[in-house]
Amino acid sequence: NLPATFNEPVQLAIIGGTGLYHLDSLTPVARLTISTPWGFPSSPVTISKTESGFPIAFLARHGFHHDLLPTEVPNQANIAALKSLGVKVIVAFSAVGSLKQEIKPRDFVLPNQIIDRTKGIRPSTFFEKGFVAHAGFGEPFDPKLIKIISKHQDTLDNSKLHYPDYTKTNNTNDDDVILICMEGPAFSTRAESRLYKSWGGSVINMSCIPESKLAREAEISYQMVCMSTDYDAWNINEEPVTVETVVGNLKANSANANRLATAIIPSLEEAIKSKQVGNDLNGVVKMSLSTGK
Ligand code: ADE
Repeated sequence: NLPATFNEPVQLAIIGGTGLYHLDSLTPVARLTISTPWGFPSSPVTISKTESGFPIAFLARHGFHHDLLPTEVPNQANIAALKSLGVKVIVAFSAVGSLKQEIKPRDFVLPNQIIDRTKGIRPSTFFEKGFVAHAGFGEPFDPKLIKIISKHQDTLDNSKLHYPDYTKTNNTNDDDVILICMEGPAFSTRAESRLYKSWGGSVINMSCIPESKLAREAEISYQMVCMSTDYDAWNINEEPVTVETVVGNLKANSANANRLATAIIPSLEEAIKSKQVGNDLNGVVKMSLSTGK
């Protein structure tokens, strides 16, 4: 019986993926059902407050009861709902498969690049029907958020955090931690999985596109935190990915995600309040009206 309204701006949002449907460490103060021009988000948005009273929004990407396939997630409504609250920073958790031996199931990964292998069937822009705008997406995530989150890697239990080494400057994909986003819902074939590996992919999921693109169009700083559940299909020394392996590892990942979220929230609160993060994208989307409509 939480209040259904909340009247302060909410600058930080956490999106929970498969296995992460709420944040244990936070006490909810409101639960909002938000209507947007793109419909309703995946779930009501839960607002919680830190000890110092800083509000945080939480949204379950697949619904509280996981009833939405990746292709069915109402991404425009999700991002529009968070934007309407005043959100400037999103940390989005997602279960992923690993494309590298050293990224073990239950490890966490902060990617800095994306290769889009979705099939173009997901509505993936706010700009249509005469509104023409182009958002730069060369750096799809936020290196400042990677820096803040990676400082808390010790909070992960029995799990390594992988993230880009910004001291390397070969100017090639080798320096990047690349997330492949596929359509699904079936997982990749072995040949596809090896193709993505040969492209330098580190991890694979079904959720990053268009969520991250829409966040960019909404000028919201965005970082995905990937939680590895399996070795995908490339690794014949392992069983091919099954729902059972994924579910077992998801449980362990959920506990670690809660630990990590608890640790990063005070740092993010401080960085947002001091305007170190959350303002870099202000005005990056330049809109032009192409028709009189
Ligand atoms: N999510 C979790 N594991 C995955 C995999 N192997 N491929 C795509 N999405 C995933």
